[in-house]
Order: sequence, then C-alpha cells, then structure tokens
Amino acid sequence: MPITYSASAADPITLRSDCGVVAVFEKRTLTPTGKALDKASGGALSAVLKRGDMEGRTGQSVMLHDVPGITCRRLLLVGCGKPEKFSDAGYRQACAAAARAIGETGSRSAVLFLVEAKLGDRDAASKAHLAVQAVDAALYRFDQLKSGKGRRPASRLNQVVMHVADRSAQAAGAAVREAAAIAAGARLAMDLGNLPGNVCTPSYLARQAQALGREHKAIRTRVLNEADMKKLGMGALLSVSRGSREPAKLIVMEYRGGARGEAPVALVGKGLTFDAGGISLKPAAAMDEMKYDMCGAASVFGTLKALAELGAGVNVVGVVPSSENLPDGAANKPGDIVTSMSGQTIEVLNTDAEGRLILCDALTYTERFKPAAVIDIATLTGACVVALGAHATGLFANDQPLADALLAAGRRTDDRAWQLPLWDDYQQQLDTNFADMANVGGREAGAVTAACFLARYTGKFKWAHLDIAGTAWKTGKDKGATGRPVPLLTEYVLERSRGRGARKRARARS
Ligand code: BES
Ligand code: MN
Ligand code: ZN
Repeated sequence: MPITYSASAADPITLRSDCGVVAVFEKRTLTPTGKALDKASGGALSAVLKRGDMEGRTGQSVMLHDVPGITCRRLLLVGCGKPEKFSDAGYRQACAAAARAIGETGSRSAVLFLVEAKLGDRDAASKAHLAVQAVDAALYRFDQLKSGKGRRPASRLNQVVMHVADRSAQAAGAAVREAAAIAAGARLAMDLGNLPGNVCTPSYLARQAQALGREHKAIRTRVLNEADMKKLGMGALLSVSRGSREPAKLIVMEYRGGARGEAPVALVGKGLTFDAGGISLKPAAAMDEMKYDMCGAASVFGTLKALAELGAGVNVVGVVPSSENLPDGAANKPGDIVTSMSGQTIEVLNTDAEGRLILCDALTYTERFKPAAVIDIATLTGACVVALGAHATGLFANDQPLADALLAAGRRTDDRAWQLPLWDDYQQQLDTNFADMANVGGREAGAVTAACFLARYTGKFKWAHLDIAGTAWKTGKDKGATGRPVPLLTEYVLERSRGRGARKRARARS
C-alpha cells in the first residue's frame, strides 16, 4: 500500500505518532527538536547517549520504547555522522535507515525530525522533498512474482510526516506533495523496469500506457502498430523488430495540463523490452539485466504519472518506441543498410547498437508535435557506464539553456546528470563508404558517438539526450530498478511551469 506523506509544524512533544525519528550527530549531539524531546522526557535521550549506545555514526540506530513525557510511542535515534560532513547522500542514508528500521516494527505512522538538520544550502522544502524520496525508495520492494512463501511481510507504515518549523510549513507541504507524486512515478518506473522480458513486452507496455490514459483524464494514449510505422517509413525502428516474434509498438501519451496550443515538452524513451544484441549477440554474463533496456520508456511513464497526479499546468507528450532485439533469421545482419523515416540511410555495422535505430525514427516522428523541447532518455551505451558509473546520468544537448535546466533539476532532486560534449569533431567516427552513416563509431567515446548519431535526427528542435545506462538500475545483490531519472524529469517540467507562472505574474504587475 502506498504511503501518505505530509508536512507538519505541530509541537514535537505532543505530536502523536507510532515512531518519531531524531538525528544524532557525532559525537552524541542532538538537534534542537532532539534537545526539546530530551528535556520533556527528563533526559531519557541524553541518558542513552551517555551510556555509549549511540555515538552518532552514519548507519547507527537505536529504537527507544515508551519514552516518558512525550506522545510518540517510539523514538528512533539515527546516526548522521559528523555535522560538517553531512551530505545529500548521508541525509538520504539516514532517512532510508530510519524507514527500514521503522518498517521492521509494527508502526503505522512515523514523524521524521530530520529536516531541521543543516544540509548544505538546502532549505526545509528541499530537504523534506529528499526525505520523501529516500523513505519511499527504501521501502520499495518488487515481490509480485514471488509465490507466497518467498515474500517478506510488507511494512505496515502508511503515514509519514516531515516535521518542519512553522515558517517553512507551507513550502514544505508543497514540496512533500510533489515528492510524493514523484515517488509514485518512480515506483511505476521501477515496477516496469523490474518486470522480466517475458511479461513486459512491447504489447504489455502499450497496455500499461492505455491504462495510464484511463486512470488520468488528462492523458490520451495512442498506440501505433507495425503497419502504421511502415506507412510512416520507420525503416530503422522496424529493422530492429524484424528479429523478434513480439510486434513493435510506438506508444504516444499526451498529457494536457497546459493551455491549448501551448508547445509541449516531448519525452522520448527507449523501450527495448529485451536486448540480446541481435546477430551481434551479447555475452551471456549478466544478460538478464538487458530486461532493463526499457528503463528510458519506464521513466516517461513515471514522469507522466507524477505530472498527472499533481495536475501540473503543462503540456507533455511521451513517445515510446518499443521493441525486442533478438537474433533470428529475419534479424538485422551486420552490414545491412536501412532507411530511416528522415530519409537518411544507416549501415547497421553492429546490431547491438539498436537503441539509436529505434530512437531516430521516434525522434523524427516527434517533429509533428512542434515541441518546445525534446528530451530522450535511453539506456544507450555501456561506454556511458564506463565514463560515469552508477552516480551520474550522461547528458548531451544541442541547446545549453536546456542542458543547464536539466542539470539544475537533477541537483535539486539529487538525481544528478553530468554533461558530456556533443562536438562535431566526433561526427566523422560515424562515416562509412556505403550509407549516410554507420550505426557505431568505433571504440573511442562510445557514449558521445551514440549521442552524435541521435543529433543527426534532432536538428529541428531543442534537444537533450540522457544516457541512463549506469543509473537506471543497480547490479549485484541489490539488483533492481532505481526509478531514475523520474525525479530529474518531473522537477524539470514543474520548474518550467513555475517559471512561466512567475513570468506571467510579473507581466500582470507591470
Ligand atoms: N542497451 C545497450 C547498452 C547497455 C549495455 C546499457 C550495458 C547498460 C549496460 C545498448 O543497446 C548496446 O548494446 N550498446 C552497445 C553499443 C555498441 C555496440 C556500439 C554497447 O554499449 O556495447
Ligand atoms: Mn544493444
Ligand atoms: Zn540496448
């Protein structure tokens, strides 16, 4: 069951909750609310600290029951490390540790007294936002495909309050509402990402898009089938799908929250529901993770859901090309030349560079919406994982203000991106004797040449490309989708509408 989040400035001493969460910094120091609770309880907290059970190191936590003098049934002390070293990551870790510890108890409600901790130059609203994201992500699990026995009992926590000072209650309330919608969008993205390739096919994604359209009046979904795409001349996209028994889909979701006729932001998400590489077959190790090759698409679904839940006053169109990439007698062969919807021809030197083949036609298709900006999101290259690892999404853009706005949105939501060059110097790596371009650019700068390929289809609009190959899911024992970059994308779109509202108000005043 999803958790309800809110902000409150009520008195911590009389606040009723199953569990209150108090920060402890090294060494053994409490925040103002911690001190107030300590005083009200006749020193119960400082007694625990003195006993030596809680130094305040990151990752430490102690649960106290029936603390006298206060109305929270439990108090959880969470270690936050050295105050001067407290970072976004440390703050999120503390929130996540608290959520997991509370999840192990019978608590249904919790109040976090963590927002008051100093965290760089973040204000209370921004900290409340991060806390919602961290708590929600910590309690997420994907066990819908485990049979009863394998499932851990879900936590009973269903109400989480972010405690804030009186003066920031209003801003924090708005931030919590946004963060809760973003969390719901991220959960949808994670669910879609974690589903296996035999469940989450292009047709499945198309049905989910239809369902999203039924759930939200403001979203209209249309699905183009292979015959439609053939009529449009999408030879690149269809060439990828030819090697698969699952028919490709081009999913279009239009969210109309803004003025009629206002140019939309277009989000174009790579929807490879399984990428085996095709005839250029991938090695067997970790190939299961190529079920996550539709996480770009999933982030489009999640962002639209978040915007619709908020009733955001913007127009956004989501375009999702979806296909499998498998080896087969009808599949693309290295050296095949295909013609894209734009008319440009492509020599498919490596059938595993399939993402750009489906995206280029989707990008050309997107021209018809006369978009104000286009952002594509794709698990596009292993090279991006080598360059940036799991922490930053790779960002490329043909418009610097757009790049700056996306980078800023990523910083605000701690869903960060890092810009890489899109210089023409790299374009020659795509030269070939036999077609307008090759679909691969050699060993060097693989993430850049992939972006350069897409740039050849985005000349007609402001465009940014997010390579999420390293950030969309975690590998190893915590394997699972992350829901990124739903926070970045949603925040970017919301900020656009905020800016517009402010400009409109300024015009009205003058
Ligand atoms: N979906 C992969 C990219 C990928 C690989 C993401 C590993 C995350 C982890 C993409 O379709 C692909 O196979 N790209 C190739 C491109 C190469 C053939 C130029 C790659 O990165 O190896
Ligand atoms: Mn591939
Ligand atoms: Zn792929």
